[in-house]
Amino acid sequence: MAVSMVQGATGAAAGKIHGHWSSRMGFIIAAVGSAVGLGNVWKFPYMVGQSGGAAFVLVYLACIALIGLPIIAAEWLIGRRGQKNPVNSMAELARANRRSRLWITVGITGTLAGFLILSFYSVIGGWALAYLGDAASGNLAGIDKAAAAALFDDLLADPGTLLVWHTLFMAITIAIVARGVSGGIERASRLLMPALGVILLVLVGYGMSTDGFGAAVSYLFAPDWSKLTGEVLLAALGHAFFTLSLGMGVMMAYGSYLGDEVNLLRAARTVAIADTAIALAAGLAIFPIVFANGLDVGAGPGLVFVTLPLAFGGITGGSILASLFFALLVFAAITSAISLLEPAVEMVEERTALGRLGATFVTGIAVWLLGIAALLSFNAWSEVLIFGRNVFDSLDWLTSKFLLPLTGLGAILFVAWRLEPHGVQRDLRLGDTGFSIWQLVARFVAPIGVLIVFISSL
Ligand code: PFF
Repeated sequence: MAVSMVQGATGAAAGKIHGHWSSRMGFIIAAVGSAVGLGNVWKFPYMVGQSGGAAFVLVYLACIALIGLPIIAAEWLIGRRGQKNPVNSMAELARANRRSRLWITVGITGTLAGFLILSFYSVIGGWALAYLGDAASGNLAGIDKAAAAALFDDLLADPGTLLVWHTLFMAITIAIVARGVSGGIERASRLLMPALGVILLVLVGYGMSTDGFGAAVSYLFAPDWSKLTGEVLLAALGHAFFTLSLGMGVMMAYGSYLGDEVNLLRAARTVAIADTAIALAAGLAIFPIVFANGLDVGAGPGLVFVTLPLAFGGITGGSILASLFFALLVFAAITSAISLLEPAVEMVEERTALGRLGATFVTGIAVWLLGIAALLSFNAWSEVLIFGRNVFDSLDWLTSKFLLPLTGLGAILFVAWRLEPHGVQRDLRLGDTGFSIWQLVARFVAPIGVLIVFISSL
């Protein structure tokens, strides 16, 4: 009686065994926090830079709308119905709908992907922390081209320093996740995301004051279709997946803390718009500085770690701008890292007697250890190759080429083809026309899009 009253009071589904988001807003901020990460601030700008600007951006927007949106909604729907970690939620839904138990594979590959990605995501988060330290202590002031390149190369060549920053980054991540869903993840996101927004506005404001702003705007928004190759298409789709945190069990796990009051499609639209707006804003913060200083937009992964410090080094007040920028990068990385840890923690918590704290600690330490192998790829273990790739690249390759597309594909196929349609229509709160459009997109457009990327990347 007491139990059912508690469940009734929280409006949760029967059989709920864990906490929930404190409010709809809290959930959305946490989901945006997960989506907005290094992918937006670090990867998106350099991908745009390498793929020729606005043509890439437009394809990317189409991928977000046609493939990203339905898959976020599908992952949340699975999590919300299951109310458990991704593996158990899939098991529960497969059983309730009399489908093959093999569907749990989707939960397994997703949880595994989040776990593996965090190991190297934390290493890059560590770079951001290191640069925040450099910027705040004035080390970037007056830096020249050779020194900017050397700073980055020296960081990568020094396992001890990398280890310190990777450890600090994982410690922060573990400390937040250990406090639970609403008290840890949601609270951290409520604090860090607004701060991120303010910093970004300041940096875009600075960008507007430089003479590179016009060039940056046309670079981002005026497409040159000749740049649109098959490879650019694939990169755009792959990135749409990564940036929305899809295919890693993360959105399934976040959905498992949801009640029925949330409109999934509307929330998915909010997250996709916020994520895209922040990626574009990051471009509007970074490209003006790059153009105004006559630097190379196509610098690749080094764009924010080499090109930007060089630009900041030559500006009055550059140390402050650089500190703001790297704080932005760190905040973005932390709110994503906590989401990457959650699916595995939720699983260990629900399947063992360790409790939240123990589960977070055990899982976090395992990720931390794997991260050490990843950071050694840049120095001591650079010769240790698995099928021709170092550990860092192997982790990236295995997750982005296999685990993410397979999990995303499995999630959307399961919801679109294996769940009873009327129930899905009710869950998505769609009228008949809306649901027909959903069926078309979820059954054909999105899965075919993912399949194309998956097959052509092999
Ligand atoms: N979406 C994050 C980004 O754009 O950096 C990265 C990420 C976070 C990917 C969480 C996957 C994930 F589950």
